[in-house]
Amino acid sequence: MKASRREPVAFADAARRLSNRNLKPIPDGLRSTAVVIFGPPGAGKGTQTQKLSDLFSVPRIATGEMIREEVRRRTEFGRRIEKGLAEGQFVDDETIFGMLERRLRREDLQRGLLLDGFPRTAPQARQLESVATQFGIEIRAFELKASREVLIRRLSGRRVCEKCGAVFHQESEPPRRENVCDDCGSELSIRDDDSAEVINPRLDIHDEATVPAIRELTQVLMRQGRKVEPIDAEQDPESVTRNLLERLRNE
Ligand code: AP5
Repeated sequence: MKASRREPVAFADAARRLSNRNLKPIPDGLRSTAVVIFGPPGAGKGTQTQKLSDLFSVPRIATGEMIREEVRRRTEFGRRIEKGLAEGQFVDDETIFGMLERRLRREDLQRGLLLDGFPRTAPQARQLESVATQFGIEIRAFELKASREVLIRRLSGRRVCEKCGAVFHQESEPPRRENVCDDCGSELSIRDDDSAEVINPRLDIHDEATVPAIRELTQVLMRQGRKVEPIDAEQDPESVTRNLLERLRNE
């Protein structure tokens, strides 16, 4: 992602740069908090979690990227799921749990974490609740909202660098040289699941499988006096980040 190329900065400085409203910074950043960013394909989950990860210097766990890495490395698992992934199908919950568990063992959860693409089903939402209880971490959740028309435009114009992970958009974030990564000079490509015939099914799968996950997590959060907070994701990326930062400040 583009934002990942910046050095991590102190939260207070970052907040000052991003907001000209002189809001108080969050004293402890994302300490002991799992921040979940929900949103349909193309809503900007990757873009926003990467920005927040840079700002707070907390790890970002993006299950979609972990899965694509398996495909790129041609692991046995990667080869098994490659076709389904290109068609927008979900990986089964058990596999996701295993992957996540292995990854979480590497992290100091007390520093907080950002979740992009997890939970994606109701059982995954229940799994998150049990992990949070086990490690004594709080959950904050946001849902990026954008119309289908905007999502289709974003997914159709996305270009990615498979080598360094940078993400561009033909219109909103074009590379300096056509089809060439600004960072590493590699050729940009189109994600297999961004093909015209897969975009609509992916958006439908989100409505069928992930909307119940949002409902499930809403129930969990309601018991703690919180909710999944909606965010207007149709604004420019910086405005969306600013909005998220403002919400994170409000306990
Ligand atoms: P994943 O990689 O998570 O894909 P996704 O959910 O479909 O989301 P996208 O990555 O397509 O979009 P995004 O919201 O991150 O948008 P982005 O920031 O890139 O998962 C891929 C697949 O893996 C899934 O389909 C599933 O098969 C599997 N999978 C993953 N997790 C799983 C799980 N937990 N369980 C089971 N299966 C799982 O932005 C999109 C474009 O728009 C970019 O070009 C960007 O530059 C641009 N853009 C972003 N924000 C803005 C803005 N505000 N204004 C203008 N342009 C913008």
